[in-house]
Amino acid sequence: MPKFAERMSSLGVEGAFIVLAKARELERQGKSIIHLEIGEPGYQPPKHVLEATKKAIDGGKTKYTPASGIYELREAIAERVSNSRGVEVGPENVVVTVGAKMAIFAALMAFVDPGDEVIIPMPAYPSYESVTKFVGGIVKPVVLKEERKFSPDVNDILEKVTDRTKAIVINTPSNPTGGIYRREDLEEIVSLAVKRDILIISDEIYEDIIFDGKKHESVLSIAGAEEVTVLVSGFSKTWAMTGYRLGYAVAKEDIAQKIAQIQLNAASCPVHFAQVAAVEAIRGPQDEVERMVKDYEKKRDIIYEEIQKIEGFSMVKPAGTFYAFPNIKGTGMSSEELADRLLNEAGVALLPGTAFGEPGEGFLRISFAGPMEDIVEGMKRIREFVSSL
Ligand SMILES: Cc1ncc(COP(=O)(O)O)c(C=O)c1O
Repeated sequence: MPKFAERMSSLGVEGAFIVLAKARELERQGKSIIHLEIGEPGYQPPKHVLEATKKAIDGGKTKYTPASGIYELREAIAERVSNSRGVEVGPENVVVTVGAKMAIFAALMAFVDPGDEVIIPMPAYPSYESVTKFVGGIVKPVVLKEERKFSPDVNDILEKVTDRTKAIVINTPSNPTGGIYRREDLEEIVSLAVKRDILIISDEIYEDIIFDGKKHESVLSIAGAEEVTVLVSGFSKTWAMTGYRLGYAVAKEDIAQKIAQIQLNAASCPVHFAQVAAVEAIRGPQDEVERMVKDYEKKRDIIYEEIQKIEGFSMVKPAGTFYAFPNIKGTGMSSEELADRLLNEAGVALLPGTAFGEPGEGFLRISFAGPMEDIVEGMKRIREFVSSL
């Protein structure tokens, strides 16, 4: 067999998909497994979006589209971003991508040369590290601290800045911590990035899943940020449209064009009828989204209460997303060991914090995106298992 390219040795895998495969194998053997590992909403997309999808297929929206996406969707995204961030963004600034993942991939690909450094507050969504290394970049991790509710400390970021720093990847609300970045911290990051001409890749895919009446703080609403920022968001989380594979990047026009050019080479364009349905997701009623977010908040509260009852566990209450990130250091076990034993001995699939980088040691990630009964049963199994130790 021909030898793989060198770069394949630096491409990572995603913990959630590995645990899911292990869990499915146990299920095949007849074991009962509660799934708290994957970050996928347990809901269907809103009804009017499903209707729009069917209508789009029947209406022949089954063709190639421009690489940056159909105009109507770019216009809808531009309006949404302009209104929510108080900035002037037009369709020329928007690229509709094959999932937010493609936007992250293309942004890093477009800017990071071999040897360039990328600062990543961690624990973090694994794609940032994996793609940075894949394109030859060097990851400079900054540890997100529990005592700061996982908002980054700009002094820690400053310490990592060198002449080779090319980009900072931020993610608020954040997977896996459930934390949201404080506005003061975002302002300092923008000021640093503008001064040193560093790209900010701001992954805001959980922007609508925020609790306790709090409002999403976007880096793009800070003056000057538009010069250096690629905003990444999408349809998978807010509208539960994971399988539509639709995300977007918003950036200065020349950056947007480069991202579209990468997508053109990799995938030509996102799916046509999915894009038509996404216009409906943005422009149509938002009551189903509001209902889902309320549901997530209820599940968050249940998990938080349950965590208090487990010996050796403690947790900062997640401010957004559908992830709980309990500290399990009090159990004396490593994240990996506890996650493995919970899967094999208690039938609960969840992720070790280390699936999100070394700074995730001492934590577990529990997804509460699924049905309420799974969360209740899963938490019961975890509590009973830990107390039996
Ligand atoms: C932080 C973060 N960014 C991006 C993505 C990818 O989303 P998409 O389905 O749009 O590719 C995810 C999915 O889990 C995520 O958690």
